[in-house]
Amino acid sequence: MIKVSNLRKSFEGVEVLRGVDLEIPTGKTTAIIGKSGAGKTVLFKHLVGLMRPDSGSIVVDGADIAALKGRALNNVKRKFGMVFQGGALFDSLTVFENVALPLKELMRLSGGETASKVNAMLREVGLPGMGDKYPDEISGGMKKRVALARALVMSPEYLFFDEPTTGLDPIVETAIHALMKRCKSLSPATYVLVSHDIREVLEMSDLVAMLHEGAVIECSPPGEIVKSSNPAVRQFLSGSAEGPIQMY
Ligand SMILES: Nc1ncnc2c1ncn2[C@@H]1O[C@H](COP(=O)(O)OP(=O)(O)OP(=O)(O)O)[C@@H](O)[C@H]1O
Ligand SMILES: [Mg+2]
Repeated sequence: MIKVSNLRKSFEGVEVLRGVDLEIPTGKTTAIIGKSGAGKTVLFKHLVGLMRPDSGSIVVDGADIAALKGRALNNVKRKFGMVFQGGALFDSLTVFENVALPLKELMRLSGGETASKVNAMLREVGLPGMGDKYPDEISGGMKKRVALARALVMSPEYLFFDEPTTGLDPIVETAIHALMKRCKSLSPATYVLVSHDIREVLEMSDLVAMLHEGAVIECSPPGEIVKSSNPAVRQFLSGSAEGPIQMY
């Protein structure tokens, strides 16, 4: 499990995270919601060990990744698969090379083992035979699926998704959701899903945490959060312009 305690982070004097407390239980899907600019991606980057907090802790299976460095941090990060907002593929590498990257860097597999794993994963995400293409030559939805393949190829214990379907058409979105569910049923992992797509969040998650004014103001199952009495949660879920959440 991941336990975030009193996490704080400022940029140029502006405090984006103002004491985030959050428990991410093992084996479940926890969604993080909140308006654009609320700090979801900043929180995501702390969870995966890419950003350092000003204060507070992020304890993953007993180890505080905010206090780890070098090899000790890498040993925890080995358990993680990540799909970044925007995909973050390497443009100078082919689809095959992008998916193969974590296998090469972390597992030191032979060429043959790598190729069979990567090709199996590309089939799994519906991109068989696309390994020789470059990211520039494929669509946005395909890029997301390559990013998903790269995250899944290591069979990680923790999978982090930052807006996995934003900007995709509804059919591709449904296909990605089905893929995420299938992967979860094949190898149970702990999923963290950052999204502002309410429909996606309610469908995919076991727990929904709402980030507002730098803190998690509510964390409950989808069936409960939709009945929340918190005015900010209610406004966000209904998409209303009226309420405590300012548009800008
Ligand atoms: N590296 C950085 N340096 C300075 N400010 C940053 C940095 N990263 C994020 N911020 C600021 O932190 C705030 C939160 O940004 P973040 O990307 O976490 O929002 P978000 O909730 O993910 O929004 P969206 O839904 O649009 O993706 C923004 O005001 C942003 O400008
Ligand atoms: Mg974001």
